[in-house]
Amino acid sequence: MRKKTLLLGISAMSLAVSASFFIEPVSSQSADRARDPGVRVDPPLARPSAGGHIAGLTPNEIRFFRLGKEDFEEVEGVADGLGPRMNLDSCGTCHAQPATGGTSPALNPQVAFANTATPSQLPAVDSFIRPRGPVREARFVRNPDGSPDGGVHALFTITGRPGVDVSPPGPCRLEQPDFEREIANRNVIFRIPTPVFGAGLIEQIPDTAILANQASSTSQKRDLGISGHANYRVSGRTISGQANNNGNDGTIARFGWKAQNQTLLLFSGEAYNVEMGITSELFQVERDETPSCQFTTVPNDTQDFNALDALAGTPASGVAVRLETQDGEVLGDGVTKWHPSISSCRFPSSGKCTKSS
Ligand code: HEC
Repeated sequence: MRKKTLLLGISAMSLAVSASFFIEPVSSQSADRARDPGVRVDPPLARPSAGGHIAGLTPNEIRFFRLGKEDFEEVEGVADGLGPRMNLDSCGTCHAQPATGGTSPALNPQVAFANTATPSQLPAVDSFIRPRGPVREARFVRNPDGSPDGGVHALFTITGRPGVDVSPPGPCRLEQPDFEREIANRNVIFRIPTPVFGAGLIEQIPDTAILANQASSTSQKRDLGISGHANYRVSGRTISGQANNNGNDGTIARFGWKAQNQTLLLFSGEAYNVEMGITSELFQVERDETPSCQFTTVPNDTQDFNALDALAGTPASGVAVRLETQDGEVLGDGVTKWHPSISSCRFPSSGKCTKSS
């Protein structure tokens, strides 16, 4: 499996930037409330289009966008570190409609995926995973002792799939959680994939701009029916109603169901582990450590985040760098994004990144 460059792919994906951050002055006294216009159709040849990259990228940036998109669409197997528990085997299969990076497609791919195991893993989830229903993942509300859970409980396992009867460490024999019991206990909530289009642009908004926007145009926002507050992320999954600060360094976090992750790099590391069971240097611990179900080294992969930092940046904002493979193949030249002081950068295992000027 090629190393992950996926973050760039997400970052550069364009379109549909959440408008709620950018409150435009309203000239009339219109008290119309904001309305969702429904599915928008791009006029023929309109650019940018959903799933494409934003306009104005350099050839190197476009190359990295494509590499990221390929990684995002790549189907992973047990040899790549898939599992032991997972919700599917590719980012792009859940995030598929209307293009790679979007939401779940018309035909739920989790049904076919459940059926590729022998015996099929569909019966344990078929009350909520349906062919014409959305892709779903399941969170449990509470732990058996009554304390708050909130975590994702993976629908499927690698049991019954190719490569898991190899001994040692296998054979791997895992049971799916008892979803029917949890549903009967009203202990399950579902989430469907949100599109990632434009998320890279959200990532670029300085914290100061978010706070300034939150505090600005209050009467216009009230007239338009725009209200709400950011969540303050604290331990124990409590929501306090304060700004969404990252628990580690106090900066504003913005991605995920509780806006708990500050960057797309962090989010994608989490998604690899939570959705597909693939660990990386960011999330090194397998969510299920059953010894007979570990078929690759841990962490399973690395994320080439410095490729992102080096090449997704705004030209002229940072330091010129060159990315090369270990064999000396030049992958591209670029400019660091947020770290003008950086003098060199790591390009884990698959290459190196050096300051070129
Ligand atoms: C099983 C389906 C599934 C797979 C596979 C999956 N996702 Fe998602 N993704 C979701 C769901 C569901 C959400 C919404 C999260 C929530 O609300 O809890 C989401 C949300 C996201 C978001 C958050 C967007 C935002 O605005 O906060 C990003 C980014 C993302 N996914 C990236 C990825 C990446 C990268 C991968 C591959 C490593 C991936 N996803 C694999 C289902 C999936």
